[in-house]
Amino acid sequence: MTPVINLADIERKAAEQMSHNAHEYYIGGAADEISIAENARSFRSLSLLPRVMRDVSVRSLETTLLGQPFSMPIGIAPTAMQRLAHADGELATARAAAAMRVPMILSTTSTVAVEDVARVPDVALWFQVYVYKDREATREVAERAAASGCKALVLTVDTPYLGKREREIKVGFHLPPGMELPNYRALGTTTVPEGKQESGLARHFTENIDPALTWNDVEWLRSLTNLPIVVKGILRSDDARMAVEHGAAGIIVSNHGGRQVDTALATIRALPAIAEAVDNRLEIMLDGGVRRGTDVVKALALGAKAVFLGRPILWGLACNGERGARQVLEILRDEFDLSMALCGCRNVVEITRDLVVE
Ligand SMILES: Cc1cc2nc3c(=O)[nH]c(=O)nc-3n(C[C@H](O)[C@H](O)[C@H](O)COP(=O)(O)O)c2cc1C
Repeated sequence: MTPVINLADIERKAAEQMSHNAHEYYIGGAADEISIAENARSFRSLSLLPRVMRDVSVRSLETTLLGQPFSMPIGIAPTAMQRLAHADGELATARAAAAMRVPMILSTTSTVAVEDVARVPDVALWFQVYVYKDREATREVAERAAASGCKALVLTVDTPYLGKREREIKVGFHLPPGMELPNYRALGTTTVPEGKQESGLARHFTENIDPALTWNDVEWLRSLTNLPIVVKGILRSDDARMAVEHGAAGIIVSNHGGRQVDTALATIRALPAIAEAVDNRLEIMLDGGVRRGTDVVKALALGAKAVFLGRPILWGLACNGERGARQVLEILRDEFDLSMALCGCRNVVEITRDLVVE
């Protein structure tokens, strides 16, 4: 058996184990999948300028996000329906996050209820919110998340409609029998409709998610709970400034892993202008195409406080449940630690802008 030593190895192994329905849903993006490719390519096209002779024999990867302490600046992005990858689904991910002391963002569209995931000992759980047309149902799910111990709400703002995900359409994506979306109870439906010549998920979105969302809704969400709000899906510096003005505690620079509008700018390329506009007034996080320890160094150098992983966690889950998700985080942690040392940095504060050449 060939050893598994990087995230690409885990992705290949996962592809052999998943149903076609699940694999196409997970791997896919919008239209021609240009943004998926660009997220990864843009990381590769940036060069590092390592600093030498800095005594890097003792290092720390620790950081804080929203005032919460974490072992490293790497977290788990919200990805829907994790029981498609492994029977334990979001519970396995939460156990891996707790073991690694990293934040996990739970998708609204999870296949395990927020209350059950939040019961996993020591998990730092943030809850991702989609605003439904039915505001009472939105209020209910946000309040459920707060009551069950989630430590932040992550409002996804790049999804007024689901992007045109052609793989989902071609497989007629559906949730297999026996799987439900228990956070959707207030909507009166916890299933995804069967897709015939369409994605069932896209239909579900069109029926339930509110495309009329505006910045005022950030304030509405803030009025529901005392939790910090993170706005996910920012690519422009003017939108980042709006997030500051409307009281967000953080933003996630994201193009939804290339699943919304295709040809949207790669996130690492969007980051520098956003960091400049925000000027430390809120915490900047980034996701999209992070696959190597050097990617984490580059994102931190260009102004992110942390990065989040989407698909790699799903591949880890598909390979080996909790242990697989943990392995993904361990591999990236070790690569990040080594890259930091080789760049002359002893901690995350020393990862400065001048380490990256565009
Ligand atoms: C299968 C899948 C499901 C996703 N579901 C959600 C979701 O429910 N809510 C959300 O805000 N983002 C969702 N995302 C986007 C991720 O949070 C994240 O932005 C993206 O996956 C990061 O890119 P990466 O996969 O290249 O790491 C999903 C992404 C994937 C691949």
